[in-house]
Amino acid sequence: MMDDLFAPPAGEQPHTERLAAGTVLLHAMAEPQAAALLADIDRIAAQSPFRHMVTPGGYRMGVATTSCGELGWVSDSHGYRYSRLDPGSGQPWPAMPDSWRLLAADAAARAGFAGFVPDACLINRYQPGCKLSLHQDKDERDFAAPIVSVSLGLPAVFELGGLRRSERCARLTLRHGDILVWGGPDRLRYHGVLPLAGGEHPLLGECRINLTFRRAG
Ligand code: SIN
Ligand code: FE2
Repeated sequence: MMDDLFAPPAGEQPHTERLAAGTVLLHAMAEPQAAALLADIDRIAAQSPFRHMVTPGGYRMGVATTSCGELGWVSDSHGYRYSRLDPGSGQPWPAMPDSWRLLAADAAARAGFAGFVPDACLINRYQPGCKLSLHQDKDERDFAAPIVSVSLGLPAVFELGGLRRSERCARLTLRHGDILVWGGPDRLRYHGVLPLAGGEHPLLGECRINLTFRRAG
C-alpha cells in the first residue's frame, strides 16, 4: 500500500499550478508512469552508471548524475558542458526512451511551451543530506526551450529564485510524480535544492531522483 506521507493531500487531484508567467507545477503528472520511469532509469544506469562529477572548482558533487539522449551534461576541471559521449565509457549516452520525450513534450505543452523536443535528459540522484546549490541552467545553446523537471521518490524543497542570484527565493516542495516546467521569461531563473531530508519512499527507498529535460544542442 502507498505510504500516506508520499501521496498527495487527501482529495487532491493532479492539477496545474502556475507559479509565475513561465513557471508551472504539474502536480503528480508523472505518477502513473513512475514505475516505468524507474525501470528505464535502471536500464540507463546499467549502461551509463551514476557518478559523482567534479566541479570546475575541484569539488566532488554530492548529487550523483547520469544522462540519456543525444547529449549528456558533464562537469570536470575544464568546466560544465554537454557532450555526445559519456566520458566514463567513451560511448554515446543511452538513448532517451520515446515515452520520456512524450512525457516531457506533453508537460511543456500543458505549461504553454508547444513543440518541445528535448535532446538531453540529466538524471540526478539525491541521498539524504544531498543538496544542489543555487544555479542557472545556462549551458544550453539557446534558451527558447523550457526546462522540464520530473521528481521521483522522496520529496525535496526546491528553491526558485529570480534572474539575479541576490533575489529572494520562493520555496516549494516537489513530490513524487510532480513535474515543474520553467521557460520563457523564467528560463534563466536561479534555482536549487535544499539538503534532502531522510525518509523511506515506497518505490525508491532513501532516495530522490530528478530528471531534467533540456534542449541543449
Ligand atoms: C537541476 O537543477 O538540475 C535539478 C533540480 C532538481 O533536482 O529538482
Ligand atoms: Fe538546474
